[in-house]
Parts: sequence; structure tokens; C-alpha cells
Amino acid sequence: MLGRFVNLDAQYRRPSGWLGRYIGRDMARDHQPENRWTIDVLQARPSDQILEIGFGPGVAIQALSTIVSTGQIIGVDFSPTMLRAARRRNAAAIRAGRVQLLGGEANNLPLAGERFDQAFSIHSIYFWPEASAALAEIWRVLRPGGRLVLTILPRELWNVDNPDLPVGTPECRPYTGAELQTMLHIAGFSATSIVADPNPAHRSNYCVVASKDVATSNS
Ligand SMILES: C[S@@+](CC[C@H](N)C(=O)[O-])C[C@H]1O[C@@H](n2cnc3c(N)ncnc32)[C@H](O)[C@@H]1O
Repeated sequence: MLGRFVNLDAQYRRPSGWLGRYIGRDMARDHQPENRWTIDVLQARPSDQILEIGFGPGVAIQALSTIVSTGQIIGVDFSPTMLRAARRRNAAAIRAGRVQLLGGEANNLPLAGERFDQAFSIHSIYFWPEASAALAEIWRVLRPGGRLVLTILPRELWNVDNPDLPVGTPECRPYTGAELQTMLHIAGFSATSIVADPNPAHRSNYCVVASKDVATSNS
């Protein structure tokens, strides 16, 4: 209904203003299953250095910060509205130094190289205008041996209930898992795999996992 009057894809891409705050609350509720699935796939250790790109309301970071006790989680998102919401949600962990949330773009991360053991992103890559450049940026900031987990609703499952509808919009470019695997290899990642929930009720419990070779280095 709301979608008839406003461009909802633009809001999911970069939530802003009162509608962005409303959509952020929706995402916090509706994306719980894929947040939990991603955290299971990450298998984070207490000492891990972890990056999330496109954290939205910051729910996954909040859950991870109960596991990462001596390491740190850094989040990057280009929406000032989501930055404020996620900072509120994670205020205690930010004060304790376990979480740091930054404004920034996926394809130009405000971070030093070879810093992270793991990186992840949930329902965000569809909105990155230069996704290939962003994957190369993530490769840059991962340590050799580091892993990237991209959680998506894969393109082939996008409109299963309404197969006649077009897939994607100018703001939103869904990918198949295989497309992302090819892009990840081009960006420098070595092994890639897909970890998907067989339960059809949880179509977004779908992660493309990629690792940065231990022998590789940025220098
Ligand atoms: C659909 S929301 C998903 C939020 C959260 N990960 C979740 O699953 O609930 C997409 C998020 O990615 C962020 N985002 C989109 N494009 C981005 C870009 N190029 N750089 C940084 N953040 C981006 C948006 O601001 C938004 O918070």
C-alpha cells in the first residue's frame, strides 16, 4: 500500500527521515532469521575482528557483540538515519569499545588494510552501485585467511510467489549465488561456497562464503 506512494526500494537502499526510521524498525523485526543464520555461519570467536557493511538498524552487531568479548566489531553504513538507530541499539557495546559504527560507502571503506578476520553483509549488496569494486575493498581489509559472508535473497528466489513481476529496479540489483561467486573470484577471493537453509520458508537464509587465501597479501 505504502509502496504506491513512495519509492520503497530507495528507502531500503538508504533509509532516511521518519520513513527510514519506520523501515529500520521493520527490518529489525523481519530480518531476524537471516541475522541468526549469518551469525551461525560466521562462527565468531571472542577475539575476532569483524566488519559488517550495511548494518541498518544494527541488530546483527548487537547479537554478535555478546560473543566478541575481546575482539571488536566495526560497522560501516552510508545512511545517517541507520547510523543513529544502530548507535542507540549498540550504545553499551560502543561505550565498552567492543563496537564501532562508522558512516561510509562499501566501495571506499574508511579502514586500514588487512585488519579483519571476518566480514559480512546482509541484504545490502543489491544496492551497491559498484559491487565489484566494493568486493575488492572488502578483500583489501581482510587479513590473509579471512572470510567474507554475504547473505542475500538469491535472484532466482526473488519473486517465487509472483513470477511475472520484474526482478530488481534501478536502485536494487539482485544476484544469483553463482554470479556472486564469479565476482568474488575476480575480486581476489579464493575458495567460495554457498550455505543455504533447505527450509523454503527461510529463503534469505542463504550465504555466499568466500575466503582470502593465506598466501595472499595486499602489499
Ligand atoms: C535493506 S538494508 C539491510 C540492513 C540490515 N543489514 C538488515 O538486514 O536488516 C540495506 C542497508 O545497507 C546500507 N547500504 C546500502 N548501500 C550501501 C553502500 N553503498 N555503502 C554502505 N552502506 C550501504 C543501507 O544504508 C541500509 O542500511
